Amino acid sequence: MKNVKLIDSGRKSWEWASSHMGIISTIVNERISYKPLKGVRLGLSLHITKETSVLVMAAINLGCKVSLCSANPLSVQEDIVAFLSSAGVKVHAWKDETEREYSDNLKQVLEYHPQIVTDDGSNLHVMAHKSKTVGILGGTEETTSGITRLKALEKNGKLQYPVIGVNEARTKHLFDNRYGTGQSTLTGIIRITNVLIAGKHIVVCGYGHVGRGVAARARGMGAIVTVVEVDALKALEAYMDGYYVKKIDQVVQNGDIFITCTGQTHVITEKHFRRMKNGVILANAGHFDNEIDVEKLFSNSNGNHSVREYLDCFHMNGRKIFLLSKGRVVNLVGGEGNPPEVMAMSFANQLLCIIHIFQNHKKMQKKVFSVPEKIDSTVANLSLKYLQIGIDKLSPAQRKYGKSY
Ligand SMILES: NC(=O)c1ccc[n+]([C@@H]2O[C@H](COP(=O)([O-])OP(=O)(O)OC[C@H]3O[C@@H](n4cnc5c(N)ncnc54)[C@H](O)[C@@H]3O)[C@@H](O)[C@H]2O)c1
Repeated sequence: MKNVKLIDSGRKSWEWASSHMGIISTIVNERISYKPLKGVRLGLSLHITKETSVLVMAAINLGCKVSLCSANPLSVQEDIVAFLSSAGVKVHAWKDETEREYSDNLKQVLEYHPQIVTDDGSNLHVMAHKSKTVGILGGTEETTSGITRLKALEKNGKLQYPVIGVNEARTKHLFDNRYGTGQSTLTGIIRITNVLIAGKHIVVCGYGHVGRGVAARARGMGAIVTVVEVDALKALEAYMDGYYVKKIDQVVQNGDIFITCTGQTHVITEKHFRRMKNGVILANAGHFDNEIDVEKLFSNSNGNHSVREYLDCFHMNGRKIFLLSKGRVVNLVGGEGNPPEVMAMSFANQLLCIIHIFQNHKKMQKKVFSVPEKIDSTVANLSLKYLQIGIDKLSPAQRKYGKSY
């Protein structure tokens, strides 16, 4: 009975997300008559959210058979699992998986013998390489950190199939990473803690696509924002955008909330914990749970306890340090992930790239490819059309202008 209720709830969430992701329906409707992915086995490791269910249902409507696991052990929305399972998807995921269960679920997807692998973070791609899974024609990768790992495999001559880095599309990283993660990170922090953002001193580590979005939304809600960077250009950009820019050591004692958005490891660690103020809140928006050195937080504290779900308190020399979502992506664990409007763009890229790689894999080298420009501009144009926004065209004279020197 519980499961039936969950299926219904998941279906309603899928409908809600679909109604904000119209460009996915357009892409499906234009291709449904000839089903370009007919019979293709698709292996997915993605955050299991209502937005992901829109991508999965679209792939099914274009002919795919799908096996799915989660890209993160804590980010699974169980009503979506129930709904997708009822629609015939082989789902291997549940909320709060242990590390072992998470890894077993990745294995299950590979045992489905996927022809195309679509991943977020590249744990599935890496496992496919380590286990020497055969029969994979190509893949796609959703996020910055996942592409970094695949490029390392390519550089070492180990990449076994072509992969398209979907994050490289401008219609992905300029919107999903910035506006989507910017908003949903603040949502995640607020949902877990309900603290007031106005007046808080928020330290944003990393001023890439995600960091820019997080800093903008934090400032918009009245926070005083300091940016920490390692790249001179990004630091300068943050400064010109009107933020304080400091070394982490200069700001570590003053921050009320720290948000890591770097894709790097151990950005906040032992030496920082020791100097942080009483009551400080630590949150991570980067893909992996290593940006805040959680192990050192455990080993350096004199005890810890859970305050409420995904809010843990660590005692350190008479001070309290609060860690959100166990150091994992706060927008997906504490919130529902990125809003459907931006995931429509990301997943439109995914869907078109899955079709592209299935149709072209024989001609493609074993490399990490950017999203073809044609796909990126198709997604931009479809998005504008969906938003009923018209843009001008260059006149013939303007097209010639500057070409005759
Ligand atoms: N939570 C989500 O929904 C979501 C969405 C998109 C991307 N991501 C993840 O967020 C992370 C960042 O993605 P991005 O697209 O912004 O990447 P990016 O490469 O555009 O930006 C990362 C920035 O961090 C800076 N940086 C690196 N090490 C640092 C350090 N030690 N201290 C301070 N700054 C440092 C880099 O110079 C860079 O400017 C990645 O792990 C990515 O996979 C998460």
